[in-house]
Amino acid sequence: MLLRTLGTAAGGGVPQWNCACPGCTGARAHPGWRRRHDCLAVLGAAPGSWVLVNATPDIADQLQDQDELRPGAGEDRTPIVRIVLTDAELDHTLGLFRLREARHLEITATAPVRRALTERLRLDEVLGPYTTLTWRELPLAGEGTVDLAGIEVDALPLSAKRPRYAAGEPPEAGWSVAVRLRDPATGGTALYAPALAEWSESFENAVTGVDCAFVDGTFWDDEEPRSTGISTRTATGMGHLPVSGPDGTADRLAKTGTRCFYTHLNNTNPLVDPAAPQHALLGAPAPAVAQEGMEVSL
Ligand code: MLT
Ligand code: MN
Ligand code: ZN
Repeated sequence: MLLRTLGTAAGGGVPQWNCACPGCTGARAHPGWRRRHDCLAVLGAAPGSWVLVNATPDIADQLQDQDELRPGAGEDRTPIVRIVLTDAELDHTLGLFRLREARHLEITATAPVRRALTERLRLDEVLGPYTTLTWRELPLAGEGTVDLAGIEVDALPLSAKRPRYAAGEPPEAGWSVAVRLRDPATGGTALYAPALAEWSESFENAVTGVDCAFVDGTFWDDEEPRSTGISTRTATGMGHLPVSGPDGTADRLAKTGTRCFYTHLNNTNPLVDPAAPQHALLGAPAPAVAQEGMEVSL
């Protein structure tokens, strides 16, 4: 199984169009700092059949940038686009609308995520006249797996955090999940969790049990959203455990012994600056920061 990051930023990307914080200003001056919205491309044993985890507002550019994700010689269209969703947040789903040219879109999601997209964002109604949309249920851990182009996939429920546009929906397991991937051909396993609201024993066990994990690295510390003025809430209050500090994920992830990478970095996170001193506090056995376009083979 091959994993490739097509993006590693939180909502807004780096730089964010309306922001002049140090991270965004730095990314305008240094293209190497740029990060697109978080997305993971996964390739199993089925040749050319990639699966995308999340569909971001950058999706068309993310696909164009990868030779292997473009239609091959002799094909006039990508026959089927397979997407599995960690949640219904706009930064992970707006790309679905951009894929209206697809012949066939196959979306795998939990029940509440599907409901939010269908009833709140009217995805089926809007895309129906343009493409064939197929939904598949993303099973929660213990309820089996779904086969996506030769990869076995299930979901570990993380929290009942709803997108702001769906705040009136009832809380339930499955709103925000970690996507778990297993290649039956190699036995390789991975976890993709761009939003981690709370640390739980089940999450710790899941990280410990995989070969590689991509985890929420939205904020460096809990005060960052307030100290940078982007919110009146703390990182934890926004549903993102910070990297550092007493409740931070760095030490806890390091203790699992699993190879971990931070993704979904917000533009206010000092880690978007490749020269930031905070990087020296990370690295094996602590998680490293995921790079754009990096690959992991499992
Ligand atoms: C999040 O990651 O918390 C959401 O994407 C934030 C948002 O854009 O509302
Ligand atoms: Mn987000
Ligand atoms: Zn910014």
